[in-house]
Amino acid sequence: MKILGIETSCDETSVGIINDKGEILSNLVYSQVQKHAPYGGIVPEVASREHVKAIGWVYNLALEQARTNLKEINLIAVTAGPGLQGPLLVGISFAKGLSLALNIPLIGVNHLMGHIYSCMIEDTAFKPPFLALLITGGNTLITLVEDIFVHKILGSTRDDAAGECLDKAARLLGLGYPGGPAIEKAALGGNASYYRLPVPLKKEDSLDFSFSGLKTAVYYLVEELKKNGKEIQVNHLSASVQEAVFSSLLDRLEKAQDKTGVEKIAVVGGVASNERLKYRLREFTEKRHLVLSVPSPALCTDNGVISAFVGLLKHSYNRIDNNIIDAQPFLTLQE
Ligand code: KG4
Repeated sequence: MKILGIETSCDETSVGIINDKGEILSNLVYSQVQKHAPYGGIVPEVASREHVKAIGWVYNLALEQARTNLKEINLIAVTAGPGLQGPLLVGISFAKGLSLALNIPLIGVNHLMGHIYSCMIEDTAFKPPFLALLITGGNTLITLVEDIFVHKILGSTRDDAAGECLDKAARLLGLGYPGGPAIEKAALGGNASYYRLPVPLKKEDSLDFSFSGLKTAVYYLVEELKKNGKEIQVNHLSASVQEAVFSSLLDRLEKAQDKTGVEKIAVVGGVASNERLKYRLREFTEKRHLVLSVPSPALCTDNGVISAFVGLLKHSYNRIDNNIIDAQPFLTLQE
């Protein structure tokens, strides 16, 4: 059995193919980053058009790299949401066309689940129960995965996502888009104590997150430095922002682990590709003798394999619903 996964929820056009053991046969990702960079963020209309242009060749190349022909594909899985409406519709329409023309079953998948279960693709021994910290450009949440498809959300962001905060701070610092990798690079050699920034909600017992206050603090700090004619030490400020965001993430993880006693931790989504964060996560989990799973960067950022993998899980756990697949921009983890 082979599963073809399609992902177009944001600014990556991706098709991935896996087999029934969850092994990756190909994972083609066309990143539109260069198209959006001049605007400092994603322009939905531009993203939709780019997906339309790219989906055909990305699909062909994914089949070619997997040395697979269409007759070997038994299931198509496509991201149904959350994400941008236009971009989602491109992937869904393409998937529906394929499914109809070739008579291959089609499943819609929740992109948040794609990220959450990405921790099991390479690390095949990693199984529930585990705590999953999901950190992307659009979402930040911590959930207890009791079993496959059995989640209990412990906390989520009250405003901005962690990745969004890094993206906005990078913009204020003139580092361009996407901000997370730019901040990571700029922070190398920076001193995180040079500028003092607040660690969000540190004193609160709740497991929620909040990053808009931190973003505002960076804004006012930059404005004050400019007003006083002081030079902005971009490497120090990048290190401070990164450290404040990561301290907040670590603080919530520690509290969640205290509360649940769960000994396995997965950290997934685009921000999880950050080396400094992974260093801090290793420190934390080694100290507590916990098992940590962080996917390789190619599986942290958006890609088709994570959709295919949820398709495989849905198929294996008989969770193939009524098959009405439509773009659901605001889909949550519960649905
Ligand atoms: O998972 P993802 O590709 O897309 C969403 O579903 O949102 O995550 C994108 C986010 C962006 O905010 C980006 O700046 C951040 O992940 N990101 C990083 C790194 N690579 C991507 N943040 C910190 N360090 C990185 N190396």
